[in-house]
Formats: sequence, structure tokens, C-alpha cells
Amino acid sequence: MRVVHTNAELAQAVAEARATGKRIGFVPTMGALHAGHLSLVEIAAARAEFVVVSIFVNPLQFAANEDFGKYPRTLDADTAALEHTAADLLYAPNAEEVYRQADGRIDTSITHHAGRAGDNFEGAVRPGHFDGMLTVVARLFDLVKPNVAVFGAKDAQQLFLVRELAAQSYPGLEIIAAPIVREESGLALSSRNRYLTAHERIKADTLSMALRAAVQQSENGPAKALSAARDALAQEPAIRLDYLALVDKFTFEPVPEDFVGSALLLIAARVGNTRLLDNQEIDFR
Ligand code: PAJ
Repeated sequence: MRVVHTNAELAQAVAEARATGKRIGFVPTMGALHAGHLSLVEIAAARAEFVVVSIFVNPLQFAANEDFGKYPRTLDADTAALEHTAADLLYAPNAEEVYRQADGRIDTSITHHAGRAGDNFEGAVRPGHFDGMLTVVARLFDLVKPNVAVFGAKDAQQLFLVRELAAQSYPGLEIIAAPIVREESGLALSSRNRYLTAHERIKADTLSMALRAAVQQSENGPAKALSAARDALAQEPAIRLDYLALVDKFTFEPVPEDFVGSALLLIAARVGNTRLLDNQEIDFR
């Protein structure tokens, strides 16, 4: 795997691969890689002959009070982990390189706004987050020019908004959703799990337990499924719930009680100082 730090090196490496007829697969990340990230690389490799991974902690998607400064930066370990995957190229730019324009100017203005589907849930709790996320994802798509890009189902609203972005602005680009990779306990892998104490980690399992409780009630309809999850979460005082919601997978709008179709049950909660996300697709018939 080759490691590059500049846009020029990235463009050249991608152009060389494309010239030999290879399709370009892309996995954008913020590093602190775990098995969830690495699974995305393998999914990209199944669809494309040349896989680019990016590691960039994007300042535009963190609010002033969030963990941008202390977000884990583990480039050496990340590079070593990627060496064991099908990744061909790691693009690990410094803070300014991503936003450097052809004339050398740094432009960190917001270029993409999440529409209505970005207003609720993560968008309501983290104002501006999705605009910053879409701005960097669009910038990375422009730099990498992938045929296929892989995003985790773990960040369900992000995936939904990236699909909208691609449909509007990147017509030839295929967006693939990767299943959520979990610990044996059920806890969804996350770079932020390393902030949890051993005690909090056990409490955090309540999120995936709540999702499983909802799945068990799915035959009894959306209202029963939702209340099963709510009850499970309420039993653990260490969980401070930001939101619990059942949304239509294809509109991201909350579903009515008589909903039939594919829904996503979304959970965002704090355990200690750590904010965790999880979700589960549930089909109602
Ligand atoms: P990051 O949080 O590093 O996640 C990178 C990708 O890994 C995302 O698509 C995310 O959904 C996926 N991922 C994380 N945990 C996962 C798990 N347990 N199972 C499967 N996939 C998982 O998401 C971002 O970075 C940023 O917002 C980014 C898209 C890179 C833009 O800055």
C-alpha cells in the first residue's frame, strides 16, 4: 500500500490506476481504524480493482464544543492495520491540504448543505455537522473521483445524506452501504468506544440490547417495537438518551403506527462523556 499526503500525489496515483482500466473504490474515514472500517475496505475491494482509503479528521464537521482536538489520531497504527487489507493507496493529508484549491488558496467554506433530512436527529443535536460532513465528502469525491464509495450503515443519517449528495451531484458514483460491525457483546464498533471506561462499556451494551428487544417485537408493529426499545433503555440509568426514533429507510421521516416497509430504529445516547450511535433495520409487514 502506498501512502500519500498531497492532492497532487493522490491525483497522479489514481490517474495511473485508471489508465490501466482499474475501477476506483473509495473508503473515507477519520482514522482510529477498527474492524468496522477495515470491513469497508474489503467491501470496496470486491467492487473495484484499486482501493483508496482516506484518513482526515475534518474540522468542518465538529462544533466548537465537540471533540475535534481530542479525536484519536493514530496514523502509524492505522497504516499498519491497512497493510493487512486490500487497500492500495492511503491518502492522509494534513489539516489544510484537503481544502487547498488549484491556485493554492485554502477554502474551508461550506459548499454543501444537508436538506430537510439533515434537520432532525444528529442534525438537531449537532447543528452544522452534516453540512461540514457533506462538504468534505464532496471535496474528497472531487479529489479521488471514485467509481464506488463505501459508507457504514452505522451512521445511518450520514449514509442517507451521502446517497442524496451522490444522486444530485455525482451521477456515475455508486454508494455502497456496509453492515454494522459489532463486538461480541453487541456494541457497535466506534472510534469513540476507546473513551469508555470498562464499566461504561458494559452499560453501553444496553443500546444493542434495546435494538434486539425491538426486533423481537417487530411482528407486533412499530409502536410495540419502539416501546420495547424505550423500556430496555429506561432500565439502565447510566444511559442518557438523546433520541430514539423509528424512521422510514427511504425518507428518513418518522413512521406512522400502521407503517409497512423497511424502517430504521435509531438510537443516540451518552454513556458518561461518550456519545454513542446505533441503529437497526426492521421490516414491518
Ligand atoms: P468515521 O467515523 O471514521 O467512519 C468512517 C466510515 O466507517 C463511515 O462510513 C462509518 O459509517 C463507518 N463505520 C464506523 N463504524 C462502523 C461499524 N461499526 N461498522 C461498519 N461501519 C462503520 O464517518 C466518518 O468517519 C466521517 O464523517 C467521514 C465520512 C469520513 C467524513 O469526514
